[in-house]
Amino acid sequence: MKKIALFASGSGSNVQAIADSVQKGEIPAEITILVCDQPDAYVIKRAEKLQIPVFAFRAKDYSSKAEFEREIVQKLQEAEVDYIFLAGYMRLIGETLLNAYGGKIVNIHPSLLPAFPGKDAIGQAFTARVKITGVTVHFVDEGMDTGPIIDQEMVRIANEDTRESLQVKIQQVEHQLYPKVIRQLVTEASRGEGKK
Ligand code: GRF
Repeated sequence: MKKIALFASGSGSNVQAIADSVQKGEIPAEITILVCDQPDAYVIKRAEKLQIPVFAFRAKDYSSKAEFEREIVQKLQEAEVDYIFLAGYMRLIGETLLNAYGGKIVNIHPSLLPAFPGKDAIGQAFTARVKITGVTVHFVDEGMDTGPIIDQEMVRIANEDTRESLQVKIQQVEHQLYPKVIRQLVTEASRGEGKK
């Protein structure tokens, strides 16, 4: 069974959706660590309830990104992680993590990339008054939301939508799409190994 890490900074509703899907047996993987850069974030409470081991840190306790990423890599190695899924991790992944896990790091972003990369993608789409936005799952490279796209799903913005109602719609789609993509990736990776 593949071992996966989840990275988050906030509420962790995507972490919850992925963990629920793992528990139901839909994703053939074990979540062996949650990495969180905000020790007060609600996602840590969720992880404790879900009995997922947590590595929480504060970036300001380290002298550089390379330094805290070296520690993250060490924790990931101890947890024997095969794949990393970013779920609202609000930091750009640096060289140290990319060198160790390049091609194995996946992110979810709340817009149809390449439109609206970066922070507050939902607010950006709402303010731009586009009629269609959505959700993208993509591999992570050194850029901000620029890596190869794995899957996308669209969300229509209705005239009566507010920024808040749009966020609800986007999150509902995220909670379906991310577990689905993770299941596909993990299943394909396990099959590939079976053939060897
Ligand atoms: C999600 O909208 C995700 O697309 C973005 O950050 C948000 C995290 O939400 N990268 P949550 O913490 O999973 O509730």
